[in-house]
Formats: sequence, C-alpha cells, structure tokens
Amino acid sequence: MHKAAGFLVAISAIACAQDLMPVPAALTRGSGTLAIDAGFRIALEGYREPRLGAAAARTVARLSRQTGILIRGTDAAARLVVECKGASAPVQTVREDESYTLNITPQQARLQAATPLGVLRGFETFLQLVAPAPGGFAVPVLRIDDKPRFPWRGLMLDSARHFQPLPMIERNLDAMAAVKLNVFHWHLSDNQGFRVESKVFPDLQAKGSDGLYYTQDQIRAIIAYARERGIRVVPEFDMPGHTTAWFVGYPELASAPGPYTIERGWGVFDPAMDPTRETTYEFLDRFIAEMAVLFPDEYLHIGGDEVNGKAWESSPRIQEFMRAHGMKKPEELQALFIKRVVALVIQHGKKPVGWDEVLDPTLPKDVVVHSWRGRKSLAEAARKGYQGLLSFGYYLDLMQSTAYHYANDPLGAEAAKLGEAEKARILGGEACEWSEMATAEIIEARIWPRLAAIAERLWSPQEVKDEASMYRRMEIESRRLEWLGLEHRIASARMFDRIAAYEPHDAEALEALATAVEPLKQYDRHDVRKYDLYTPLNRMVDAAPADSVTARSFARSVHAFLAGDRTKEEEIRKLAAAWNQQHATLKNAFTGSFLAAELEPVSRNVSRLGAIVLGAIGILNSGKPAPEHWVAQQKRIIEQSKKPQAELLIVILDPVTKIVEAAAAQK
Ligand code: ACM
Repeated sequence: MHKAAGFLVAISAIACAQDLMPVPAALTRGSGTLAIDAGFRIALEGYREPRLGAAAARTVARLSRQTGILIRGTDAAARLVVECKGASAPVQTVREDESYTLNITPQQARLQAATPLGVLRGFETFLQLVAPAPGGFAVPVLRIDDKPRFPWRGLMLDSARHFQPLPMIERNLDAMAAVKLNVFHWHLSDNQGFRVESKVFPDLQAKGSDGLYYTQDQIRAIIAYARERGIRVVPEFDMPGHTTAWFVGYPELASAPGPYTIERGWGVFDPAMDPTRETTYEFLDRFIAEMAVLFPDEYLHIGGDEVNGKAWESSPRIQEFMRAHGMKKPEELQALFIKRVVALVIQHGKKPVGWDEVLDPTLPKDVVVHSWRGRKSLAEAARKGYQGLLSFGYYLDLMQSTAYHYANDPLGAEAAKLGEAEKARILGGEACEWSEMATAEIIEARIWPRLAAIAERLWSPQEVKDEASMYRRMEIESRRLEWLGLEHRIASARMFDRIAAYEPHDAEALEALATAVEPLKQYDRHDVRKYDLYTPLNRMVDAAPADSVTARSFARSVHAFLAGDRTKEEEIRKLAAAWNQQHATLKNAFTGSFLAAELEPVSRNVSRLGAIVLGAIGILNSGKPAPEHWVAQQKRIIEQSKKPQAELLIVILDPVTKIVEAAAAQK
C-alpha cells in the first residue's frame, strides 16, 4: 500500500521534470520528492536586493494560487533556500550570467546563482516542477545545472501598426520571463504611428500617433517591470524608411516636401528621410540623445529595412547630391545615412542594431546585424566580424507551424559552417510579431504558445530538438501561461463566441470547425483582399490558432492507426464525427451571424471530410475492398477542399488522404 503510493509520487514527479520548457542544460534525477505544503517558505541568503524579495513574493503567490495551499507565517524552516552570490549590472547587459543550479532533496530545495538573473530563471524552473502528488503537491528530487545557449533571446513587438496597450505588454513580459526570454525589442515607430513621447520634438507623438503613444513615464514603468523580470528593453526607431509618421510633424526630415499624413495602409511605402541634409542629422542627434537617456539599455535599434529608394530617385536635389558624391544606387545613399546615424548612436553611448539591409562594406563593426530576409546574412555578418541576431524563421505573424520555428537554429544552415570565433558573434535571436494583422485583442494568441518553442530553441542545448516532446510540453506550458495571466487561449474563445452571435448560441461547434483549419500563411491574406488599419480583425481567420493542436494530434493518430494501432480508432472517429456534425449545428449561424456566413463552404467541406474518414474506417474494418467510384468521389472532395476559403486552409487533408488511400489499397 505504502509502496504503491510512493511509486505514484515518483511517477508524477518524474512526469513533471519532463514537462520543463525550456529544457535545462543539465538535469540529474534522484528519487523521491520534496513536499510543497503550508510549511513552504523561501529564504534569501547572500546578496540581497529588492528585486529578489519581490520575485520571491511573486513565486509564493503563484504557487499558492496554483495549488490552493495557504502559505503564511514565518516560523517554519525554509523549503526553498536561495543563495545569490552578487549583484547584477545596474542596467542588464547582454552577456550577464543567467546560470543557476537547483538542487532538490526530500528535505529542501537550494537555488544558487551568481546574480539575481540566475535566481529569476531558477524560480521559473521551480514553479514548472510543482505537480500534484498524493496528499498535496511536490517537486521531484533532482539537480539542475542550467544556463542559456544564447545570451540574446527576444521578442520583437510592433506597437506602431496597431497600438498595443500597456497591460498586454506587461502580461507578455510575465510570459517571456516564464520561458526565460530576456530581450523585449520594442518597434516604436513606423509609417503608421510614432508611439513614444518626445519632449524635444513633441510633434512626433502629437501629430504622428492619433493620440496613441506611450508617455515617458509609462516607458520607464515598462522598463522597470521588465528589469524586475530580468528582461532588457531595446527600442527600435526605424529609419530612414518606415518614417511617414515622423514627417507629419516634421516634414523637413523627409526627402520630399510633403505635407504628410499618417499612413493607414500596410506595405512598403516610398517616403524616406533625407540623407543629404545636415539638418536631418542635427535632428537625429538631439532625438537620439533624448532616447538614449529614456532607454537605458546598451543597444539601440535603428531599423534600416525596406527602403525602396523612390523618394531619393524622384528628388532632383538628392539626385544631384548622389552625382556629386559618385553614387549610382540608392543603396549607397542608404549606406551613407546608416553610417552617419551609427556614429550618432555610438556618440550617445549606445551600440547600434540594424536589420540586415545595413550590411554594407563600409558599415562599422560595432553594429549588430539583425537577419530577417534569410539566414545567409547572419553567417555573412559573422564572417565579416559583426555580431548578429536571427529573426528570419521566427516571424510569428506569418502563421507558420511551431515545428518550423523550432527547427530554425541560429547556428544551423549556413552558420553551422562558421568557425568557433565567428559562431560566438551570433548573439541569439528574436521572434517577431508585426502587428498589421494583429490588434491588441488577438496579438497574444498570435505570439503564444509558439513563442515558448522559440524560447527553448534559444535557451536549451542544440541537441534538444524532439518535435513531439516540444509539442507536448508546449501544450502544458500554454496552460501554465494562461494561469499566469496571459490571454492567448481566452482571446480565441471570446472571438468564437462573438462570431457565433446568433440564437441558439453554439460557439462549441465553431471551435470544432476551427480545429480543422488554420489561417493562410506568409503574406497570402494580403493577396485576397486589401487590408488596412480600419479592417476589422474579428473573423474565424483571426481567431483560429496558427498551428492546430487537434489537427496535429489527428494526423499522428491516423499515422499510428494505419500502422496497426487500433487503439487510435476511437479518437479518430470522435474527431471525424465532430467535424462531420458541426456543419448541421452551425446551419443557423451561417444565416444568423454576419461573421459566420463566410464559413459555410469551409464548414461543408470539413463536414464531408469527417464523413470520408468515418466511411474509410468502416471499409478498413470490413476487410472488403473500397469500391472504385467511392475512392474517386472522396478524392474529388479532398481536391476541392484544398482551395482556401474565407482565408482559411483546411489542415486535415493529409491524414484524410492517407486513410482513403489505405482503404483503396485494401484487396
Ligand atoms: C522587416 O520585417 N521589415 C524587418
């Protein structure tokens, strides 16, 4: 009896160590557990600072909320002893020590770290280890020696296209800390908005933001919030292109006289700063001086991407300048501009970062090259002596699968061939969430949970790459993040509910439909219709997750079923039946809900696909061959279902085809 109970404890505790995300650098399992109960206390030893006390208090609050255990009082011996050796830098730096060791025995857990950053990372690991155990909760006996693989692990958030409110940013910082990310790259200006209060040039926000900007006090509060969680805030002021919003208040910065209005559309636009006038650099000198103080991080991102050169080619004055300086192409003028701005950034004590277009033979080596157009530029930059960051392959707004992002390694492909010194120049990577197609309502669901897998790619050892394990742990982490306060799951549910705004109300049938579809990938939605700031993003294509957990699980089950695992039949049947039946349930929605109407043909196809699966299983179970006309008819339906409708892709076609083929092959 006792033995059995002990065995159960061990099982659940082991299962829990396997749920960590990101996977730690080294983990040694012991046997047994440390109980988490009302006697749980955290003791801080060694170096102390308010940030550590606050982090300990948050840890206890989360633990208590997650478990329901009343953790109170001061008389018990500490179950988690934290030993911090020394301070971290007053402004977090890129190569600061984030390592920690967590040693858990049946009596006590010891978290040791060189700096508060390691303590913060270790608290997150500890919280992920807590699991229900007979009689309460426990963490497994083990030893973890953990440190990040890359020093720069970030999320770039675009607050320019759609403004993103502060509470959402705070929730994301909490979630980033939970998966050990350490850089919040804030894209703060673009054609569609200038989002920071400047006291030196107040017309930047007054005329360039529709009133949607962050005050300097709000920015300082976000930076402080991020520091509490071990996250650096790197601002980006994208120039010389992507700058229309600047020109509304300060047209003299532009290459053409204007006047300018805030851009409401999406895409690459012609306006660009004038690189030929000294007044441009005088303005930027004062602007960068102000921002260099507001944002304490050692890095400042100057953008530099997507200048199409048209503003320069259509200005006789600028053309004359180019001729006088022997310049033939806009790229040369861009290189001159970048070199001047880089010098200003350095003068104001910062290290510049720029998108990979800045990579030019004359670019000073102090610039960090941020690869987004391909992986090649990253390796090329490293070879030429620049530090680099990878974002190509980490664009969350493009709706690609988590597996795709997870396989994208900063030291993979081209970079794998680099020498050790060159590899060391690759600082890490950043996921990017551009917000043309994401309002505040849906942006968390676009970022999460896929970002957790990218966080693991950047933190965990290179050999941690099992896709099935990642997906399993990401689902667990997704729920943990929602408990923490993130709204990525509830956001979709809320939208389904709105789309199903008819009586009788059935959001569940819509959710069943949603599991069989995904939004169009890459930039394909822009080929279907013209999107701009005013287009509501409130449809199924906006609510449906980018990577359907259910569709993936269905594909796995069909694969196993066809390989002979008959236990999968029930799950396959259940899903197929739900897909088959949602169409009838939603009949009223297609006429009663304006937002659901476009889903009728998608739903009809999904329903037919469900029927195909049920039919194919029937044939497989009968042991009789499938009639030829049946096979031909099912293949026609599958073929018809390939065409995107309502900007949605049906993502169960592969397994459905396989099951039909298996039925067809039966003799
Ligand atoms: C970018 O996506 N234009 C950096």
